[in-house]
Amino acid sequence: MIRVAAFGDVHVGPDSSGTLGPYLAGLSEHADVLLVAGDLTRRGTVAEGEVAAAELACADVPVIAVLGNHDHSAGRQDAITALLQDAGIRVLEGTGTVIERGGVRLGVAGGMGSCGGFPDVADTVLSEPELRALVEDGRPSAERLGAALDALDCEVRVALTHYAPVADTLAGERLEVYPFLGSHLLGEAIDGARRRVDLAVHGHAHYGSAKGLTPGGTPVRNVALPVLGRPYALFHLAPGLPLADELVLERADEPDTERPEVCGGG
Ligand SMILES: [Fe+2]
Ligand SMILES: [Fe+2]
Repeated sequence: MIRVAAFGDVHVGPDSSGTLGPYLAGLSEHADVLLVAGDLTRRGTVAEGEVAAAELACADVPVIAVLGNHDHSAGRQDAITALLQDAGIRVLEGTGTVIERGGVRLGVAGGMGSCGGFPDVADTVLSEPELRALVEDGRPSAERLGAALDALDCEVRVALTHYAPVADTLAGERLEVYPFLGSHLLGEAIDGARRRVDLAVHGHAHYGSAKGLTPGGTPVRNVALPVLGRPYALFHLAPGLPLADELVLERADEPDTERPEVCGGG
């Protein structure tokens, strides 16, 4: 069994030093790996990227991350990626990585993904060339995700994105913003993978809900911090066994620090 901790949308600012690291310093007691589903920063600046890298580097387990839209908002995503990589964090963008624990190989394929909407919404806009272009804009990243999933050599597979692959986990968000929160193309890539994907993890939908399912039956979890309401989600994965969610409850020994802050929107 592999224990997977995950969160997204921590949205650190220049003043966030010490707000996240204490939660991650003893993570190996509960998890074998930490997945970060994007939006590490508020405005995507290099200064925020430095804080995010330093905080995530406090984790005593391997950290695998994708960037989010906020991390791209200042055009410094390459610099932020480099800072994270220098801190030992594996940053995925249409790529995958494998870790091995207790004889089980966990493969994670990921990338930011894209918006574009879901069939009910997408169907209504496909006659408009500009809106059709918005939907189709996400196809290359979805195809890269699918290829990265297929390339994983492992027993247990996880898809990690910032944008949502299904609409299930958007429940609670305003319907008008659904097209900007994810794309059905990501869900199709997950369902179209040559080998079954055991779990799909995403963030971005701050007002969404925790659990969903792709049409093909892969469990989907929205790990945006405002949805979690706790420092991280914890999943137990084992070859051939269904996903087990473990709620991380408040503990008496929880670090006496301010909880990670998040901004208001996606
Ligand atoms: Fe976002
Ligand atoms: Fe966010």
